[in-house]
Amino acid sequence: MERILIEGGKPLEGEVRVHGAKNAALPILAASVMAAGESTIQDVPNLQDIDVMKQILTALGAKFSQSGSTVTADASAIITTDIPDELMRKMRSSIFLMGPLLARFGSVRVSKPGGCSIGTRGIDLHVKGLQQLGAEIKESHGYITCSSKKLQGTSIYLDLPSVGATENLMMAASLAEGTTVIGNAAREPEIADLARYLNRMGAKISGAGEDTIYVEGVAQLHATEHQIIPDRIVAGTLLIATAITHGCVTVTNVNPDHLGVVLTKLRETGVEFRMDHDIQLNNNRIEVRALNRLQALDRIQTTYYPGFPTDLQAPIMALLSVAKGTSVISEGVFEERMHHVSELRRMGAKIKLDHRTAFVEGVEELSGAVVEATDLRAGAALVIAGLAATGTTCVDNIHHIDRGYEQIENLLASLGASVKRIWM
Ligand code: UD1
Repeated sequence: MERILIEGGKPLEGEVRVHGAKNAALPILAASVMAAGESTIQDVPNLQDIDVMKQILTALGAKFSQSGSTVTADASAIITTDIPDELMRKMRSSIFLMGPLLARFGSVRVSKPGGCSIGTRGIDLHVKGLQQLGAEIKESHGYITCSSKKLQGTSIYLDLPSVGATENLMMAASLAEGTTVIGNAAREPEIADLARYLNRMGAKISGAGEDTIYVEGVAQLHATEHQIIPDRIVAGTLLIATAITHGCVTVTNVNPDHLGVVLTKLRETGVEFRMDHDIQLNNNRIEVRALNRLQALDRIQTTYYPGFPTDLQAPIMALLSVAKGTSVISEGVFEERMHHVSELRRMGAKIKLDHRTAFVEGVEELSGAVVEATDLRAGAALVIAGLAATGTTCVDNIHHIDRGYEQIENLLASLGASVKRIWM
């Protein structure tokens, strides 16, 4: 078993580069199966979820090579469109492959993903949207089989702005006949990045990043090159980690536009930022520092982009657990994303929970404890709490953290934190 050990109390200092966005790289790798030939994708993060996506694509017949964070994918010789059940179970995001495989090959079979620790996470919007594009979908014995001769463009309205459903449907519609309009689409920056990749492949997509997306179907796509956008959740995690240690860090490879509400909320607590924002020169930096004890926030409500991201709800709760005053944090996206509350309490945090709302009464200090990462971002929150706690914090179940952060212990140790991974 692997664990992360943290000796708290060291202010983070120095400069750190944010890796490419997991949530952009996953659908982009999935989209690479939509064309024959070699696609080159830069800044692909080295994460467990990305490995699983590559394993799935390899099982389907795609070939990969890698040099540093540059991945070359070749889907010229796909031999099957049945996604192996054991790989599908490893990662919910394999659902992204439905749209691309169906659109290019006319069929796909996946096993139905279950709920996960943070909520039920249905796929009804993916299924309904593909049906509206003309796919025939059968569900039996835990498998979903989709088939279609040629998908037909249509108007789709999503009941919820689901990130995954928007991406799946945008990919499928790229190879449909005619134009598709996706209404109430999710607006996350990763959706715009996927659209940029697809457009480089020859797709005709406009409006991605806004709430109505237009996709004019094309007959085929071609391989291309693309650079993944920086991971805004990793960037946000680093800003929060710096703030809780009262450090001063320069975060590079970051797009401040993608962090609007996060920066605003952190400023309200008293965190200071200096921006160096030059998207043209690809040279964006945020310098973050927090000198005094931070102030509580009377309201954080996680919601769809551009609202406060659910993926930073647990990390900001760790920060607010040592702020002055009582903060109120409500989870508006997932039903069960509060498992970190009981773990933070073990470290001395004073948090009352009422369904999906946490009332966080800031304490002077947290104390180290043995705690368990129950999901990816809950795990990051516990590491953040450990950085500020007195004594040693031991975080178990860190495979969750490895799904979304490239060696978080090295990232933080490079900034002077005392964090290490141990094997037991
Ligand atoms: C993506 C992100 C994840 C982030 C989430 C919300 C990736 C790989 N993951 O997940 O990090 O936390 O967005 O920002 O990009 N829903 C349905 N039916 C559906 C689809 C979704 O009811 O068919 C519900 C879900 O249960 C959830 C909400 O909609 O409550 C949002 O889910 P969605 O936006 O689809 O999240 P993901 O794409 O799974």
